[in-house]
Amino acid sequence: MAKLLPKEETDRQNEFIERVFEINAAYEKYAFVDTYGCQQNESDSEVIRGMLTQMGYAMTDDEKSADVIIINSCAVREHAEHRVLGNIGALVHLKRSKPDMIIGVCGCMVQQKHMAEKIKASFHHVDMVFGVHALYRLPEILYRAITEGRRIFEVTESEGAIAESLPVLRKSVMKSWVPVMYGCNNFCSYCIVPYVRGRERSREPGAIVSEIEGLVKNGCRDVTLLGQNVNSYGKDLNNDYDFSRLLSDINAVPGEFTIRFMTSHPKDASKKLFDTMAECKKVARHIHLPFQSGSNRILRAMNRSYTIEHYINLIEYARSVIPGISVTSDIIVGFPGETEEDFSGTLNTVKTVKFNQLFTFIYSKRSGTPAAEMPDNEPREVKLERFNRLLALQDEVSREINFLPPGTEIRVLVESEQNTKFGNLAARTQGNRPVHFFGNTSLVGCFVSLKVTDSSKWAMTGELTNG
Ligand code: 5AD
Ligand code: SF4
Repeated sequence: MAKLLPKEETDRQNEFIERVFEINAAYEKYAFVDTYGCQQNESDSEVIRGMLTQMGYAMTDDEKSADVIIINSCAVREHAEHRVLGNIGALVHLKRSKPDMIIGVCGCMVQQKHMAEKIKASFHHVDMVFGVHALYRLPEILYRAITEGRRIFEVTESEGAIAESLPVLRKSVMKSWVPVMYGCNNFCSYCIVPYVRGRERSREPGAIVSEIEGLVKNGCRDVTLLGQNVNSYGKDLNNDYDFSRLLSDINAVPGEFTIRFMTSHPKDASKKLFDTMAECKKVARHIHLPFQSGSNRILRAMNRSYTIEHYINLIEYARSVIPGISVTSDIIVGFPGETEEDFSGTLNTVKTVKFNQLFTFIYSKRSGTPAAEMPDNEPREVKLERFNRLLALQDEVSREINFLPPGTEIRVLVESEQNTKFGNLAARTQGNRPVHFFGNTSLVGCFVSLKVTDSSKWAMTGELTNG
């Protein structure tokens, strides 16, 4: 069973929260949290904002007016790290003009030892560095940075316990993120995540369900369950409780809301999962199932543990039990040793499956992963050319598969007001497609039926039906 953070530790952090709150009591203090990377990081930032709010900080989006800046970093690709480093570097002038400002860097990038050391050595204006597993200790770290006047580095190797009672300041309650598990056991050969986020730890189902009950009571209409590999949820709980049961139990929470989840892994996404999705009416008719490559040789080198035939069968099954299900995927182009023949396997898979949307990436070498040691002789131009061919193909597929004839009825959640020529309201379908339409602004937060008036590759416009 996953280790829960001991109560004494939570109490200790609460004491630091109070101490920082007292220091701040006399002044108006502001904090800015800048987030890079995936939804798990967005969710972690909501916890950071929750803790900062309890410590007396008001949130701002303007770094110049902030007394505390926290950069929650990502390490998944080199590009993400370059962006983070560039932005940390740019803060040097602000820190010079405001020496009392505290700058912290946390998250996946600095969970890597060499990156924490790089910041220590080359970015002297950074006051605090704390890794993924030290997130809940922000109150203590911040207190020490303020009162001791020295730089604090906390990057523990430990996997971290699950901290259940941390405060959360959500960007949106209507659309909420809820982590169901942390970490990853898969060790795909290209991926840094298992090294920075540790082994899989599942939250207790009761804690998840009661969090969602509370959210729905407070106006949540769309909940996304988060985990690096949600299909292996529960394996560490040592009872028979699995992800399908979790979906059924969340589906039974009273109220009208949509359940989404990400990310799934084809080796663990079972027929049972799709049968459960078909039975649970609140679960979105959408699966994000990354296949990464259409070549079995490359899938083996990636340590993905499935074949492309297995993947295609899974999608066929999903479509047979959930007609109209929207299917999206991630693909890596230019993995070490990928040949033109391997790549044509990827193109063929895209033609066969016809995804509603693709997230495509050029392979990025991550030091410490097995793929970083594999010979990678293909020039960048070749990889880029393949990447562009893949985008062009998906463009054609999207046009075909996402076309909905005018008059088609769709059900959407109205998410926000907007100001475009396509409508004053922005909504999303269960398949996560944006839809624009005109209507009363009181509809924000409601599910409504629309008739499609125009549909492009991805976005749509619609009008309210009379019913
Ligand atoms: N290089 C390129 N893309 C990567 N991804 C993960 N690691 C890498 C890497 N080293 C992609 C995968 C994953 C998505 C979140 O990011 O496609 O599914
Ligand atoms: Fe998310 Fe992975 Fe980036 Fe960490 S490295 S923020 S888990 S995408």
